[in-house]
Amino acid sequence: MNNSMIKIKGLGKNYQNGADLLEVLKGIDLEVEKSEFLAIQGPSGAGKSTLLHILGGLDFPSKGEIFFAEENIYRLNESQRAEFRNRKIGFVFQFYHLLPEFNALENVALPALLKNWWEKRKIIDYAKTLLARLGLSQRLGHRPAQLSGGEQQRVAIARALINQPQVLLCDEPTGNLDSESGKNILALLKELHQQEKTTIVLVTHDNDIASAADRIIHLRDGRLLN
Ligand SMILES: Nc1ncnc2c1ncn2[C@@H]1O[C@H](COP(=O)(O)OP(=O)(O)O)[C@@H](O)[C@H]1O
Ligand SMILES: [Mg+2]
Repeated sequence: MNNSMIKIKGLGKNYQNGADLLEVLKGIDLEVEKSEFLAIQGPSGAGKSTLLHILGGLDFPSKGEIFFAEENIYRLNESQRAEFRNRKIGFVFQFYHLLPEFNALENVALPALLKNWWEKRKIIDYAKTLLARLGLSQRLGHRPAQLSGGEQQRVAIARALINQPQVLLCDEPTGNLDSESGKNILALLKELHQQEKTTIVLVTHDNDIASAADRIIHLRDGRLLN
């Protein structure tokens, strides 16, 4: 039985800025196991977000390969990769990225409603279940501007979970929160990991947050440190 969820081989990423070539990732090899909670730490500019985006099929590698449960995701065509992202990946960002004109329930349900995989009633019920689980039953009709930062991030986590992803990718999910809200978010992620066996890859520059993970790796200047 293969226990690998994500496998990265020789990953490189360059950005061309005018005449300058910026090497952001310089040959990354990494394997994430099924049900692992992995933290990636590193200073600002180290390439953490770039790595996470490429892992989730959001940005192209310049070099190397990324396998997701044995499938090479950058060999998929654009619509197949979009399908892969929708079905298998949940993203949680530092700045929540909720849609301001929709309420909490709508923000959570939308990624599933757009896909029509289940009937609408079921999607709404599941969105409510997720929001209840994250302590937001009393906030279903609130728009993002009517929610605190911690509440917005909990809505964003519920949204990331609506399509029952195999992997949750979190980019500095507590980076914009006060320490109390940050602790709550972290406790929720740990609970998901323990109860649902969700594979989590979490990027942070915060040692306390990282220490909740099963394993911590350090990215510095585009390379993983050993
Ligand atoms: N689209 C882009 N074009 C050019 N340079 C970029 C782009 N995205 C990121 N970079 C550069 O890549 C480096 C790593 O960025 P990033 O992955 O966001 O780092 P981190 O998340 O670790 O702070 C930074 O120097 C940043 O300026
Ligand atoms: Mg970043």
